[in-house]
Amino acid sequence: MKLQTVLFDLDGVITDTAEYHYLAWKRMADQIGIEIDRDFNERLKGIGRMESLERILVHGKKAEEFTSEQREQLAKSKNDHYVSLLIHLTPEHTYPGIKELLDQLREHEIPAVLASASKNAPQILASLQLADKFQYIVSPDGIPGKPAPDIFLKGAEAVGADPSYCIGIEDAQAGIEAIKAAGMYAVGIGEHDLLQSAGANIVYNRTSQLNLSSLLEAALME
Ligand code: BG6
Ligand code: MG
Repeated sequence: MKLQTVLFDLDGVITDTAEYHYLAWKRMADQIGIEIDRDFNERLKGIGRMESLERILVHGKKAEEFTSEQREQLAKSKNDHYVSLLIHLTPEHTYPGIKELLDQLREHEIPAVLASASKNAPQILASLQLADKFQYIVSPDGIPGKPAPDIFLKGAEAVGADPSYCIGIEDAQAGIEAIKAAGMYAVGIGEHDLLQSAGANIVYNRTSQLNLSSLLEAALME
């Protein structure tokens, strides 16, 4: 079977912005007296902005204390801080192997799709000078977030690909679950046991281990 499309998560797969999200959420949580750590953060990865805030408030047993306007304000303050961390982003911040993989896909005329939950994705791709490597960038607005399959399904549909001939790449448990729910082959980047238990077909520790021929071999595709 022939590979039709590779769908990439952004934060934590293409660049280190998953860490910036963590730092920005941690600062916001501190300001309202809620402590979060890296273990808890695994449950935020891949999850949209307002749902992440809800998870933090529930974790701190403060879900009842904030009105929807106050929540909007908290989310805005987190995002403002997060965006301020992005200003230093340059193409050198692209994780090793990612640009090479995108170039290999282009050579083989296999579309690359960005399947991120982030509203900041276009800005980040522009800073990394990678925007033109993607045939399609899914907008997460108005569709169910990960672990629902919709972001990945929308990306496959946009380029006319059959999900069963697609590969999705993710660093988040919710993201791996979304890829599997979409009926795609799931490649995890990061901690083996965590991502395998979410359903990853294969897990690499680092993006430098990714390349088109090993992906095709692992996914039994050509
Ligand atoms: C995902 C991140 O890619 O995007 C989450 O893994 C983040 O941590 C989500 O909450 C939404 O991002 P943004 O930039 O729209 O707040
Ligand atoms: Mg991610």
